[in-house]
Amino acid sequence: MSSRGNFSGRIGFILAAAGSAVGLGNIWRFPYLAGQNGGAIFLMIYLGCILLLCYPIMVGEIAIGRAANSDAYGSYSKLGGRKWGYLGLFGILAGIMILSFYNVVAGWAFGYFLHISFGDLLNEPDFGGFFGTYVNDIIDLSSWAGFSNSNLVFSLIFMVLTALIVAQGIQKGIEASNKIMMPSLYAILLGIIVYSLTLPNAISGVQFYLVPEFSELKVRTIVDALKQSFFSLSLGMGALITYGSYLSKLENIPTSARVISLADTSVAFFSGLMVFPLVHFLAFKLNIDPQQIGTSGPPLIFVVLPQIFHEMGPVLGRIIGGSFFLLVCFAALTSTISLLEVPVAYLVDQKKMQRKSVVWLIALLIFVLGLPSMMSQGMVESLNKLTFYRGNDFLTFISDMSDISLTVGGCLMAIFISRRWGMDKFDEEVAQGNDRYLNSGTRKFLHFSLKWAAPILLGFLSVLIIVEKFFGVENLF
Ligand code: PHE
Repeated sequence: MSSRGNFSGRIGFILAAAGSAVGLGNIWRFPYLAGQNGGAIFLMIYLGCILLLCYPIMVGEIAIGRAANSDAYGSYSKLGGRKWGYLGLFGILAGIMILSFYNVVAGWAFGYFLHISFGDLLNEPDFGGFFGTYVNDIIDLSSWAGFSNSNLVFSLIFMVLTALIVAQGIQKGIEASNKIMMPSLYAILLGIIVYSLTLPNAISGVQFYLVPEFSELKVRTIVDALKQSFFSLSLGMGALITYGSYLSKLENIPTSARVISLADTSVAFFSGLMVFPLVHFLAFKLNIDPQQIGTSGPPLIFVVLPQIFHEMGPVLGRIIGGSFFLLVCFAALTSTISLLEVPVAYLVDQKKMQRKSVVWLIALLIFVLGLPSMMSQGMVESLNKLTFYRGNDFLTFISDMSDISLTVGGCLMAIFISRRWGMDKFDEEVAQGNDRYLNSGTRKFLHFSLKWAAPILLGFLSVLIIVEKFFGVENLF
């Protein structure tokens, strides 16, 4: 085990796995999906998905990795034979796909952090127009307040930071960086929430977020909540198999999974609690309907929030806005390192390659794979409007494909555990580090979910997501 690397203990593992989970999904995507899906009702279904489906799959994923002590491919093939190894490879490819577009959005956030903290982005009167040009012209080399304006450069820097950390290995790289970034992230998040709750009209934002309106419930809400829960908890593609493979047999898997799920869910919940009061404050100030801005989708944090920071005045806006985007960067970085670790672990374990050289090779490859996503925001017309994908852009396409691969991956993982590896072997692994597990209610619940609820519901909902994405029947739901 030591030659592969391992976490120093429980805290290191939990922080790293929570770091993987907490990311752009929580701060960028969760609030806008909640905004588009009726707020509180989305939150309730989201919590249901986490409890019934995500938590059991998370325990399963960690157990697979720890039992096999190998990367995603190696773990499946060791426990289930060569054919199941393909499921591991499928996960590794999904990870590469996710990182390719994720790093682009992380680059946008990194640029915003620099420009708000040290530049003069907040003086910009037209944030929508600015964002449009910013993501469109990726190689804009004009410098702006001393910084390049090119998000090609920003996203390259982000990938280099990711690679630098992963190249340092498990304890010195992944664990050490998470131990700094995760507590800072919580501190910043709580600080901004306290501030945003003091703003005028904040309470109406809290109300929208916390009081359910059942008439808003649509099939679409369920599908969105499910895909978001898998993405947010980093499930279904082997990130937690890989991290689990560095975990000691003395640690308690169900308890760790509980803490990780709670950490991730609380950041998503708190992000909503930070964003909705801000949105309602802005609506109040501009005298418009909050619905209009709260449902703005992906640009929510890049267009609406800067406008709010602008309203706060030059000094406070810079401090709160800069801290917000620093928070986003920390969250994204702890996730990108987990995504990069998945293919790296595969090549180190299976092909016996050197960690340091593999890291740079894969990082470069994924950066290049991200270029079409980066160029799809207006720069290249054919990527901006994909004819085979109902006129959506390439970044949306890749992100949708990632969502599908995670729920399909999760469904197959539950089938693997219950029908191939076997519940007895699963129990044996989970019982290590947890003496009371075999007689516990947790065990009964995990069996129910992994044998029945997860394969059936995930299978069914995955089909729904695929139909919705490819045939555009969202209007039917
Ligand atoms: N969970 C991360 C987020 O919420 C994204 C991610 C998905 C990371 C899958 C690793 C694996 O941003």
